[in-house]
Amino acid sequence: MPSKNSSFPPDIDTSTPSPARLYDYYLGGKDNFASDRQAAQRLYAKIPELRSMALANRMWLRRVVKHMAQAGIHQFIDIGSGLPTQDPVHQVAHRHAPGCRAVYVDNDPIVLVHARALLADDPATTTVVEGDLRDPRAILTHPETRRLIDFTQPVGLLLIAVLHFLRDADHPYGVVRQLRDALCPGSQLAISHVDNTTAPERAAFLESVYAASSAPGQTRSHHDIAAFFNGLEPVDPGLAYVSDWRPESGDTYFPPEKAWVYGGIGRILRPAATDAHE
Ligand SMILES: C[S@@+](CC[C@H](N)C(=O)[O-])C[C@H]1O[C@@H](n2cnc3c(N)ncnc32)[C@H](O)[C@@H]1O
Repeated sequence: MPSKNSSFPPDIDTSTPSPARLYDYYLGGKDNFASDRQAAQRLYAKIPELRSMALANRMWLRRVVKHMAQAGIHQFIDIGSGLPTQDPVHQVAHRHAPGCRAVYVDNDPIVLVHARALLADDPATTTVVEGDLRDPRAILTHPETRRLIDFTQPVGLLLIAVLHFLRDADHPYGVVRQLRDALCPGSQLAISHVDNTTAPERAAFLESVYAASSAPGQTRSHHDIAAFFNGLEPVDPGLAYVSDWRPESGDTYFPPEKAWVYGGIGRILRPAATDAHE
């Protein structure tokens, strides 16, 4: 077991599965431990489509960043960024608009180690922040966020496959509201989130296995996920299964039963103060 690997800081708990490492496993990565693989095998027995869900979500993320970069958004905050496997956000963005900047935020120590190692060579356009989505103020005021992000200019806020790690007790709607309120008009918010209505029994099983991980979570319905966008202008086609959201010919299409994940983008139209009473 690689728990003694000296390149990892001591706060990495290899005995408890972590969402970042489980996701890495689904995507065919190598940055996972025995505890992650055992949890993944339990999950695969009932939810073999977890791999296609992760792949569909990752392809959707690329289309989202492309859309935002082409819409003139050149700075991104990616919260719950995960292990920087293939095609991290800034690389996707650079293909469409060179010079885009990205702040990667995560609370998993292994993500931070890998992200810092891989992204260190380009401090002018990327940075890594240790932050918890449940404390949005700390993320927004972090000196590294302030160094790279100009909040008077549009920002692409990416909450991709992370909000389902906030349970209702964590006040996810208040968290998203606080983040939205920091962004100027022209900014866009992208969310993807595991759904609990297409395959309710499998969603419940997913929650039960993740309950023993380092980040227990909560799946939600289309209605409850759409509520994160209240007051924003939806970008076509609105909140949809990620494979149905502006599919591109190079991307594999997964039907809803193979990828029960919703994704959508909302545009911020007005300064925060004017929609305070929506
Ligand atoms: C399923 S991965 C998604 C990675 C990437 N956003 C993507 O969609 O490809 C979820 C990530 O969210 C991170 N995460 C979970 N809860 C978090 C929290 N409260 N604050 C910050 N990051 C969190 C995990 O560590 C993990 O890296």
